[in-house]
Amino acid sequence: VNIILLGPPGAGKGTQARRLVEERGMVQLSTGDMLREARTSGTEMGKRVAEVMDRGELVTDEIVIGLIEEKIAADSDGQGSGFIFDGFPRTLPQADALGAMLSRRGQRLDAVIEMRVEDEALVSRISGRFTCGNCGEVYHDQTRPTKVEGVCDVCGSTDLRRRADDNAESLKQRLMEYYKKTSPLIGYYYAQGDLFTVDGLAEIDEVAGKISEVLAQSA
Ligand code: AP5
Ligand code: ZN
Repeated sequence: VNIILLGPPGAGKGTQARRLVEERGMVQLSTGDMLREARTSGTEMGKRVAEVMDRGELVTDEIVIGLIEEKIAADSDGQGSGFIFDGFPRTLPQADALGAMLSRRGQRLDAVIEMRVEDEALVSRISGRFTCGNCGEVYHDQTRPTKVEGVCDVCGSTDLRRRADDNAESLKQRLMEYYKKTSPLIGYYYAQGDLFTVDGLAEIDEVAGKISEVLAQSA
């Protein structure tokens, strides 16, 4: 199955995507992670991407569509357990491009899962977030702390980091971008009959359970 996790910054897309990778062997395609990787490359493109991301604005469609195309092409068996699109598509042109890419492979989207969370909760989600620089595990100061302070539960690394764009000002911009450019995708996928909505405010395990129900329905 191929699914999209759709939702505002901090909705829990990355957290749930990692679980699906672990539990079902699906392939997570996070454009945010790909872009964070690109910015450490030191190239001219990386530098431009870093500035845009830190302001909380969207990177151009051309760049992110290119990144996704590369990853999909690299996954030659592709049929495996399917892709989880996390943070992509974020604009209507990106959604059209994804549909075209999948149909060229003879594949389709099985479900678009909208994770609904109120803005107020997003602020505390984002301001409490930190991630493991080694394995990418996502934590939160209050809702998902590490078992031992300063040490990643999964890999034991002490390289725990906060993201440069997780500040109040960038978050405000990221929310604006979401409502202006990404939320229209909810109507777009609803009209195609692919949309499922889950309550992203519930606990992590509960949200995971709801997503499993959707997958069982759409498989
Ligand atoms: P991206 O990396 O995609 O960031 P985002 O969409 O802002 O999403 P986040 O990673 O902030 O949140 P999430 O939903 O994954 O939440 P998480 O699981 O971490 O994009 C960053 C930037 O890259 C963009 O601003 C843009 O510039 C650029 N970009 C990326 N894709 C692009 C595209 N397609 N087009 C153009 N530009 C693009 O959870 C958040 C916190 O909450 C964590 O601390 C977690 O532990 C906690 N948490 C999670 N679930 C729960 C729960 N159920 N209960 C309690 N706490 C929870
Ligand atoms: Zn780790």
